[in-house]
Amino acid sequence: MTSGRTVHRCVCPGSFDPVTNGHVDVIRRASTLFDEVVVAVLTNPAKRPVFGLEERLDMLTGSLTGIDGVRVEAMGGGLLVDFCRKAEAVAVVKGLRSGTDFAYELPMALMNRHLSGVETVFLPGEPALEHVSSSLVKEVVRYGGNVSGLVPKSVLARLLERLGPVGQTEGDQSSP
Ligand code: PNS
Repeated sequence: MTSGRTVHRCVCPGSFDPVTNGHVDVIRRASTLFDEVVVAVLTNPAKRPVFGLEERLDMLTGSLTGIDGVRVEAMGGGLLVDFCRKAEAVAVVKGLRSGTDFAYELPMALMNRHLSGVETVFLPGEPALEHVSSSLVKEVVRYGGNVSGLVPKSVLARLLERLGPVGQTEGDQSSP
């Protein structure tokens, strides 16, 4: 028997190259506000990702285990609003770390609403993770810095394997 209840579904879009603990925090909080969260992984032709689409999907799926009502999907190369329409999502959810994020996100939110009426919900980023972005995390790892605690453990292992200085291990990242 169906209850006839409307499912409130949102989309959390991004490149997730790779997923960080900041992303996980926003997705987890979105899952408390909506019945279902679709994490949409973008193939951005303007960016050359370090991790392929399948790896990014895999890292996300592993990092979101245990959060109810969340699924991960490839978004392809189209418009976010088209993905939202197909997913029957009522909103896009994004995390905001700073005023710079807001300046970047606001025109997209307004354009998406203009195109389809879909609303964007902004969640304030967790202050302890305000400095965390996929690009900074990759840069720090490339130069041998320690990003443990900023990305899920399985992602840290993949980052070190892909970008870490030769011979570096998880427990040995502070040496010059
Ligand atoms: O993690 P990112 O790369 O900052 O995410 C950017 C993303 C995926 C949210 C944005 O590039 C996007 O929505 N791309 C899909 C194409 C689209 O709809 N463009 C018009 C946006 S108004």
